[in-house]
Parts: sequence; structure tokens; C-alpha cells
Amino acid sequence: MAEKKAWSGRFKESNDPVFERMNRSLDFDINLYKEDIALNKAYSAQLNKLGVISDEELIQIHNGLDEIRNEIEQQGLSLFDASTEDIHMGVEARLASKIGDAAKRIHTGKSRNDQVATDVRLYLQRQVGEIIGLIKGLMTQLLRLANEHNKAVMPGFTHLRQAQPVMFAHYMMSFFFPLSRDVERLQDALKRISIMPLGSAALAGSAMALDREFLRDKLGFAAVSDNSMDGVLSRDFAAEFLADIAILGVTLSRMSEDFILYSSEAYKFFDLSDKVTTGSSIMPNKKNPDSLELTRGKSGRFIGNLMTLLTVLKSQPSTYNKDMQEDKEPLFDTVRNIKDVLEVDTILLETMTINEDKMRNAIDSLSFATELADYLAGQGLPFREAHGVVGRIVRDCVDNNTKLTDLHSAELSQYHQLFAEIPDDWGSIERFLAKRNLPGGTGPDSVACQLKKAEKILKK
Ligand code: ARG
Repeated sequence: MAEKKAWSGRFKESNDPVFERMNRSLDFDINLYKEDIALNKAYSAQLNKLGVISDEELIQIHNGLDEIRNEIEQQGLSLFDASTEDIHMGVEARLASKIGDAAKRIHTGKSRNDQVATDVRLYLQRQVGEIIGLIKGLMTQLLRLANEHNKAVMPGFTHLRQAQPVMFAHYMMSFFFPLSRDVERLQDALKRISIMPLGSAALAGSAMALDREFLRDKLGFAAVSDNSMDGVLSRDFAAEFLADIAILGVTLSRMSEDFILYSSEAYKFFDLSDKVTTGSSIMPNKKNPDSLELTRGKSGRFIGNLMTLLTVLKSQPSTYNKDMQEDKEPLFDTVRNIKDVLEVDTILLETMTINEDKMRNAIDSLSFATELADYLAGQGLPFREAHGVVGRIVRDCVDNNTKLTDLHSAELSQYHQLFAEIPDDWGSIERFLAKRNLPGGTGPDSVACQLKKAEKILKK
């Protein structure tokens, strides 16, 4: 016979053990223990103000809850009986076993429905803060690399084919700015996460004359929920968080894909450190970029967790349904994995080597073809015609295996007389970059502006 449940008064029989196992969320919602204890402390202080709990009992409750927090930190799940349903029941039962009757009053006027919604919001509020800190750590490394290699150049690609050269710092910043938008998205999501449902009780609002402002202040929420039904049923804040992390995961996956290529034998632009690479069980030569591959792979789970939660939510009738218990594993999974990814990627950036020579030497002379077309257009030839002229030059270079940038006015003039005055350094990288100092361009002045702006963003 299973242990008596807090709700067993109405029941003649105990649960079937298989159902009991299915119904139990403690194995994962133990992740909410800090929040559940904080909530119980604030709520019991409120009950004390309302005269439900005496001053003496309040001290017992607070001391008991502190002890339970330590016990959970030391013993984890083993602290609880196998039949304990969830963290809320577990904490309450443990408190009762320590201090007796006073513990039995702490659920007056609250429900697990508003309790769990409040715990999850508190949890996410804390985690989002930590995740933002980790993203900023990664951004700091991107900015450091950009600053340390602020003269380096590299091929830029479209369709994974060489397009035009770019500054390495410009490339680093092309990941910095999307990450700064990820931070903004999470900061914005915090506005909707930091809303306290406590006081909503089961669905209709607590019968106790709770001072919700007092509770909000104690728990550190920005606002209280406006409607008790919405308070217990809403998980859009959690879906928004999962969406934000899915988007972040996609940015990091893209970056990983690049870095896997650029650190491969074919490119050798970067070398990855031993700290974040692995060997092969058979091939002694191998040094595999598993950290980057896992970052790329885990983006799938972030998208999947978002899909899981949205699917769980989409057909639920108002208000609380046990389906809602399925919100937690995707959330915890996303939180744990995105933190790992961000920490590992930060170490990867901290320890990787940039091979400036390899990057510069890899720039294909054909990637200066647009310079020639622009030159003709500058001399008055319509661009579409200029494009055609230069296309023929490129074709001949490919056929004759000559370098485009080795051609000067004498050779070029055979294709068009407007090339007569073209300066000899028309195809130099410095000239290419200097022409691209408009805001957002890859010119050195523009990139310097980007680095300054990035510095400011990080200080915010
Ligand atoms: N473990 C539950 C959950 O995660 C707690 C709320 C249970 N509420 C209820 N009415 N049975 O959602």
C-alpha cells in the first residue's frame, strides 16, 4: 500500500503503482526546490500577517525550510519517499515531519496550481539572468578576437563559394550582433516572465485576503498577474523563452558549422585547442571538433523542446490540467543544455588560434572581379555592360590559369578601353577595404566603429 497522499481523504483505494510512477514529477521538478522553498517562506510570512500562523510557528517554518534546502542540496532525491508526487508535496511533507502541525497550515489559501506556475516563473527569471551572463561572456570573446586580429583579412563566402574578402574582425562581429539581439530578446521576455501568479489559488483566486504586493516584493517579481484563470493556465512566457533559446541555438549552430569548416584541413584558418576536441578510437591522427558538432546538434533539441511545449499547450481547456506538468522537462532540458553550450563555446573561443597568414593567402584573386566591374561603372559604363566585360576576363583567367589581380592596364585595355588609366593596385586588399567604410561595411574605419559599439553594448 502506497503512502497516504495529501489528497487521499476522498479516496478509498491507493493509486496503481504504474500510474503513481507516471504521475510523479519529483524526479524532475526537484529542480524547483529553491523556488518552492522561497515561495513557502514568503507565503508563510503572509499567513503570519493574516493571523493564520503564529510568530513562533513562522520561525519554526522558516528554520525547517532552511534545513530542507540544505538536505536537498546534500541528499537530492533520496531525501524523499518513493511515493512523493512532486516537489511541493515533498517539501510540505518533509516540513511536517520536522515541525508537525505548523507545517499543515502553510497551504491555507494556495493551490499547487498557482504554486507551480509561480515556481516556474521564479526559476526562469533566475536562469534567464544566468544565461544572459553566459551569452555576454561569449560575446566578450568574439570582441577580444576581433580586437586582437584587427588587421587580419579572410575570404568571405556566399553559397560556400568565395565571394569577396572581408576583415576577420568584421566576420567576428557578424556573430556578435545577432548574439546581442538574443540578449535583447531574453531581456524583453523577462518582462513577461517576471509576473507573479501566486494568489490565483486553484483558478478563482485565493479566499484569503492576501497582500499580493507584499508577496511580489518578497519574491522579487516585477508585477502580479491580473487574472487568476490566466495566472494558473498561462505558459506563453515559457514558450517564449524556449523560442528565444531555439533562435539563439540556431545562431550558435551556424557559427559552429563555419568553425568546423574553417578549422578543417581544407581551410586551416583556425586551430581548435585540445580542451574542446576529441580523438578517434581507431585513427591516431584525428582531432575532432566534437564541441562544435554538439553545439550544432543540440540546436535540434532546443527547437524540439519548443515544439513539445507548444503542442502540449495548444488544445488544453481552461484552466489547469495535468498536461501542464509536461512543461518542465523541455524547460529544464533547454536550460541545462544551452548553459553547457554557451560555456563550452566560450572556452573554445578563449583557446583557439587564428592563422592570419592562412586566411590572407586563401583569398582567391577572382574575388576582386567586382572591383573591375565597379571601376568600369565609375568610368561611365553601365554596370550591366561592365559585368559582361569582366565576366569575359574572368572566363579567360580560368581557361588560361592566370591570376586576375596580375592583369594591369595593358592587358585589361584589350577588353575595354576604359581600363587604360586603371591604377596598378586596383586589386589590392587594402584598396578593396578602404572603399567599404560606409556604416556596416567591412572597411577598417567601419569595423573600428563596430568594435566601439560592441564595447558599449557589453558595458550596458
Ligand atoms: N506537479 C504538478 C505540475 O507540475 C503540480 C501541480 C499539480 N496540481 C494539481 N492540481 N494536481 O504541474
